[in-house]
Amino acid sequence: MVVSARLLLLRLLTLLCRLLEQYVDWYNLGLLQVPDSISYFDAVDVEQAFRHLQNAAHIGKVVVTMPDDDSGLEAMPYSKPLTLDPEATYLLVGGSKGLGSSMASWLVEQGARDLTFLSRSSGASSESTALFEELRAMGCAVNVVAGSVETKEHVEAAIGRSGKPVKGVFQLAMVLNVSDSFYDKLLASQF
Ligand SMILES: NC(=O)c1ccc[n+]([C@@H]2O[C@H](COP(=O)([O-])OP(=O)(O)OC[C@H]3O[C@@H](n4cnc5c(N)ncnc54)[C@H](OP(=O)(O)O)[C@@H]3O)[C@@H](O)[C@H]2O)c1
Repeated sequence: MVVSARLLLLRLLTLLCRLLEQYVDWYNLGLLQVPDSISYFDAVDVEQAFRHLQNAAHIGKVVVTMPDDDSGLEAMPYSKPLTLDPEATYLLVGGSKGLGSSMASWLVEQGARDLTFLSRSSGASSESTALFEELRAMGCAVNVVAGSVETKEHVEAAIGRSGKPVKGVFQLAMVLNVSDSFYDKLLASQF
């Protein structure tokens, strides 16, 4: 069975409009009132503020007040920045264009100095050539394997290409099979 997502959305929007009009009418007739109760919590007691919100009987607004001196407040622990191993290689499957190209530059900014790319057209498109030049200019060695992640020999070639240990694998390979149709017209076989 094919269900039209657009039709569902349209019905939902129509229903929401009707509800909104109904609420505005009730409000204008004075049948609805905006709760004016406000519960205040100091920032140091923020947990209680959330517990108060969790309470099913809660009505009104909750205001958390920040103190002038916030040194007594607990903070989330500072997360250690990612540092990649310059003596290792990082394998990007399908990463020579799209999202992968942004990820590749980011990996180099985090310390990677050797990247290996595996995709069917790796190195053949102007987009991937430009990316590889940019990465080399950033001081990173680039290893290119033209092949498919579905083929064992290609994957093995990619793992061994740089000669350095592989310390990270990023799976970015994707083929979007939508042509000129979209979700509401996709057949089960196209997913
Ligand atoms: N872009 C976004 O906003 C976004 C958001 C969330 C998640 N994602 C996910 O991130 C991943 C990458 O997305 P993208 O937008 O960068 O896609 P993309 O531009 O279409 O890139 C997909 C890559 O996969 C490669 N590929 C396809 N089949 C392959 C195979 N058999 N072996 C090796 N490589 C193969 C393609 O290169 P070849 O054709 O040369 O093989 C291409 O470089 C996808 O899994 C996607 O679902 C993307």
